[in-house]
Formats: sequence, structure tokens, C-alpha cells
Amino acid sequence: MSEIAKKTQVVIVGGGPAGSLLALLLHLQGVESVVIELRSRDHVLGRVRAGVIEYGSGATLREAGLAGRMDREGFVHDGVNLAFNDQLLHIDFKRLTGKHVIIYGQTQLQRDLYDAIDTAGITLVDEAEGVDLHDVDGGSPRVTFVHDGIEREISCDYIAGCDGVHSATRDHIPDSVRQRFERLYPFVWVGLLSETPPVRDELIYANHPDGFALCSMRNENLSRYYVQGSAEDTTDDWPDDRFWETLKARLPRAVSDRLVTGPSVEKLVTPLRSWVSEPLRHGRLFLAGDAAHIVPPTGAKGLNLAISDVVYLADALAGFYATGHETGLEEYSDRALSRVWKAVRFSWWMTSTMHRFPGMSNDFDRRLQKTELEYLFSSENGQRSMAENYVGLPL
Ligand code: FAD
Ligand code: DHB
Repeated sequence: MSEIAKKTQVVIVGGGPAGSLLALLLHLQGVESVVIELRSRDHVLGRVRAGVIEYGSGATLREAGLAGRMDREGFVHDGVNLAFNDQLLHIDFKRLTGKHVIIYGQTQLQRDLYDAIDTAGITLVDEAEGVDLHDVDGGSPRVTFVHDGIEREISCDYIAGCDGVHSATRDHIPDSVRQRFERLYPFVWVGLLSETPPVRDELIYANHPDGFALCSMRNENLSRYYVQGSAEDTTDDWPDDRFWETLKARLPRAVSDRLVTGPSVEKLVTPLRSWVSEPLRHGRLFLAGDAAHIVPPTGAKGLNLAISDVVYLADALAGFYATGHETGLEEYSDRALSRVWKAVRFSWWMTSTMHRFPGMSNDFDRRLQKTELEYLFSSENGQRSMAENYVGLPL
């Protein structure tokens, strides 16, 4: 890593997908930044998370020169399957929208981002502790932190809070101006990665009376599966045998007959919730990605929203440096939130339609869910709406 500058144009807190991509998009538009990351690179690269890249996110990465490996190694998926009542419905993205998604793990994307940051000569300080912001709503913002036991300070024009769900930068937006919107779901996903061939060439989202299941993949010999678990579950509650039995029982027979099981190489439990913090700007501070909003993973939107936020933010910052006008920066919060809420709606709809809610047996909600799925199975317009949202609304 090169010497840490004492002054830069933008300090980016958090080197996950949002922070790393923002640094690169700014660099491409001639804006200087320094990225400050709490964890080591190995730690960030070790997190197994999202796997679906929307059509527009793919285009963004390509335009930024970041898609070489994604286009070589990622899988283009022209559709997705919904399973219900032992039947599979193929939602044909290509026919319905002319678009597709790319299956490419967040871990691989993060590696590409780090490689590009190094090639561009952008400073990314990892293992930085005690990051703090100063004079966020004044004229001389600064970021302080400790690196290698040495206290550092960087002064800047703007700060981007890209520090994820437990964001510390978000706390610099006073309670008096901050609004928080939240929906908790009373269940979790248990995720398992196994070195086995994927059960099908496209994803399957299954609604079963016992609960949700999802079949995804990373490559020809690496499968990613998820099943719905109870709110209080931990990975200890889900030994491999239980996981595979549950998954098999929730898939249509024609699919489960072909399922190849094997030892897990990674397992996680993730809660499902929606959460939005508004506004995304306070003084010189801008929030982007998980620092500002969380969606349940059902719609595969979390990573894609991080990408769209930083596209808007990079444009706004570059616009300011090109013209001296703050118009784009003033519009950033509303512009990004408008897209975020559409993804919140879609993720809520997918989650509500595909999961078993506690207490749901033959009641009104289960009937509605059944009707929703029967409508989708029978209506091309319903399928087109689902496809349009899944491949991603335009940026
Ligand atoms: P992050 O990836 O969280 O990056 C934030 C970075 O900030 C981290 O590297 C963190 O170490 C750093 N940081 C935190 N605090 C500080 C600090 N004080 N100082 C400096 N740095 C700091 N999305 C999907 O679409 N599909 C999925 O299947 C899916 N699964 C997920 C599973 C899990 C367990 C989790 C946690 C998330 C999952 N997501 C999924 C969401 C998706 O991974 C996120 O939306 C995406 O990572 C957001 O990127 P980000 O850069 O905003 O945040
Ligand atoms: C994956 C995760 C998701 O949340 C999703 O909706 C689809 C795929 C995955 O990890 O592959």
C-alpha cells in the first residue's frame, strides 16, 4: 500500500462492494479517494454472500472495466424457476424483458474490485480501527483512525459511509433528522455451500407448506442452497443431514430426485428483515449500500442496491468536481431512495409470497399466497412484472 495521504477529495469508510466500487467509479471520473476498511482483505474475501448480478449491474461493471472475469466465469441466466404444488414455473426473463441476470459470487466480485483498486493505485487502508468522523456538517470534514498502531487523520471534501449494516458513519446523522423504517420477518435462512453439481441449470425458489427453499450455484461443481429455518435457529441446529433432508422434502419430486448431496464447505444463518434509514445525506456525509438499507435476500437485491447507490453517488460527486454545483449531491438521497424502495417492495413481495409464516395453516394469508402463485402460474403479465423486477429496474 502506498503512503496514506493527509488530504483527499473523498474518504470512503468501508471497503465492501459499495466502498470499493465507489472508489473505482470516482477514479474513472478523475476524483481522488481513500478507502478505510476495518477488516483484513482475507476476512472481506472470506464472506460468502450474494450471488445474483442484475442486468444493469452487469452493464455498470462492464463499463467500469470490471467484468472480464465475470463475463468469462459467471453464468448468464435467462430465467428463474418458481416451485409450488410439486410444479415448476419457468419465468423466462429473455422473452419477457429481453434481459438476463449473471450468477457470480460476491466473493469473486470483491476480488475483482480489489485487483482493480490495486491496479488503479487507489489507497485502501485495511485493518483500520476506531474510525471516527469530524465536522461532518461543517466546512472541514476529517476522518481519524488507527492503523498499524499509529493515529491517522485525513481531511477531505466529502465522506461516503459504505460501512455496512452495523455502520458507525450512520450515527453521525442526528436522530432529529433521521427516519428509520423496518420490517422484521419471523424466520431465518440457513445457507449451505457444497462441492456438488447444481441440481438444475437455473435457480429454483420453492414455496412448500413446510417452508421456503432456494437452489442456487457458484460454478459447475459448487452449489449454494438455502432453506427457511425458525427465528431462533443457529448453524448448530442444522447438521448437514437435516439440511439435505429438509431441502429434498421442499423441492418438487422431479427436482429432488436429481439432487446430489455432499459435505458442507460453509454454512450460515441469516435473519430476514427490511430496514431503510432516511435521508442518505447529512452535511458532507453520504450513505450508500447496507449502511443505509437492508432487504431480505429473497429478491437478491442487497448487492445490486449497493451498486446502484454508488453509481448515483459517483455521478453526483464527479458532477460537483466538474461544475462546482452541488445539484447532483442535493438530489442523491431522493434519487437513490426511489430505487431502493422499489427493491424493498419487490423483496417484501417475494418474501411474503414464498415463505411459510408461523401460524399460517389454512388461514386467509395462506389462501392469498396460494392465489398469488396460481395467478403467476397462469398470467404472463404477472410473470413479466416479476421478471422486470428480478432482472433489475433501470438505473
Ligand atoms: P458490506 O459488504 O457489509 O461492506 C461494508 C464494509 O464496511 C465491510 O467490509 C466492513 O468490514 C466495513 N466496515 C464496517 N464497519 C466499519 C468501520 N467502523 N470502519 C471501517 N470499515 C467498516 N445479498 C444478496 O443480494 N443475496 C444474498 O444472498 C445475500 N446474502 C447475504 C448474507 C449475509 C450473511 C449478509 C451479511 C449479507 C447478504 N447479502 C445478500 C447482502 C449483500 O451481501 C450486501 O447487500 C452487500 O454486501 C452490501 O455491500 P456493502 O458494501 O454496502 O456492505
Ligand atoms: C443467492 C442468494 C439469494 O439471496 C438469492 O435470492 C439468489 C441466489 C445465492 O447466494 O446464490
